Amino acid sequence: MTPQLPKPFNLTGHTALITGAGGLLGRQHAAALAEVGATIVLTDIHRAAAEAAADAVRAEVLGADCLAEPLDVRFPKSVAALERDLTARGITVDILVNNAAIDPKVTSAPGVMHSSRLEVFGLEQWNLEIAVGLTGAMLCSQTFGARMAERGRGVILNIASDLGVIAPDQRIYRRDDDTPQAEQSVKPVTYSVIKHGLIGLTKYLATYWADRGVRVNAISPGGVFNNQDPAFVERLARLIPMGRMAEVGEYRSAVQFLCSDASNYMTGHNLIMDGGRTAW
Ligand SMILES: NC(=O)c1ccc[n+]([C@@H]2O[C@H](COP(=O)([O-])OP(=O)(O)OC[C@H]3O[C@@H](n4cnc5c(N)ncnc54)[C@H](O)[C@@H]3O)[C@@H](O)[C@H]2O)c1
Repeated sequence: MTPQLPKPFNLTGHTALITGAGGLLGRQHAAALAEVGATIVLTDIHRAAAEAAADAVRAEVLGADCLAEPLDVRFPKSVAALERDLTARGITVDILVNNAAIDPKVTSAPGVMHSSRLEVFGLEQWNLEIAVGLTGAMLCSQTFGARMAERGRGVILNIASDLGVIAPDQRIYRRDDDTPQAEQSVKPVTYSVIKHGLIGLTKYLATYWADRGVRVNAISPGGVFNNQDPAFVERLARLIPMGRMAEVGEYRSAVQFLCSDASNYMTGHNLIMDGGRTAW
């Protein structure tokens, strides 16, 4: 850990719980908070993914104190069981990062309307994605945030998206061939609803617990480069004033800021980091 860490950023003695920590960004949030001294509880519906992420954080951040736990954010019982288990082990969650999301599996077949399209978007898929991305954030906040309010101190960070502020530009998801419009995939309606909803949840919780010492903010990241199809990357880059997607580690310092006393007088805020996309 950096010995000259500016004091307000120092999270030594604090524990941060991250949902969906087994994915691309979850381990980045975990490493960011471990770097500033926090103990990290990496949770994911897939225990093995959480464990692998915890190993990666330990390998990257010297002396990182990490544990990995299974958690399915859709179910109040799963959230309550983890909270009870952590409490029994003397672990109190001071920081909650609501990061879990479903990466939708959309199917296509020639001559059939693409399953991501609004006209045929399945109710089951809608319910699943909302349950993870939005209900899950509410359930985790309800349980862990309430404990924070009882103690008079805590931080919640919701991971939203630039698409929590603007609508998706569906043109960037199109295939450049003669695939008919109806068979072209789109960014599903759930993504917009979940991410706009998370920003609403952020403001609600922030004001609800403002007098109880619990700060609640959101971060709205732009798309992270992860070896996507070059044609897609080029089309997206054209929508971004800085002309590129984000690198995977570029949100770390914002996570450190929003989860620490460095942002002490900030609650109900949505920090947009999108290379300027929403400014255009
Ligand atoms: N990657 C990007 O470009 C980007 C951009 C903007 C916002 N975001 C947001 O950042 C967050 C993380 O994105 P990511 O790219 O790391 O996604 P990811 O798909 O790599 O990771 C999501 C994780 O959530 C877990 N998960 C799924 N269902 C769950 C459940 N029921 N309970 C608990 N965990 C569950 C998955 O197992 C996975 O490990 C998401 O909220 C995403 O919408 C990502």
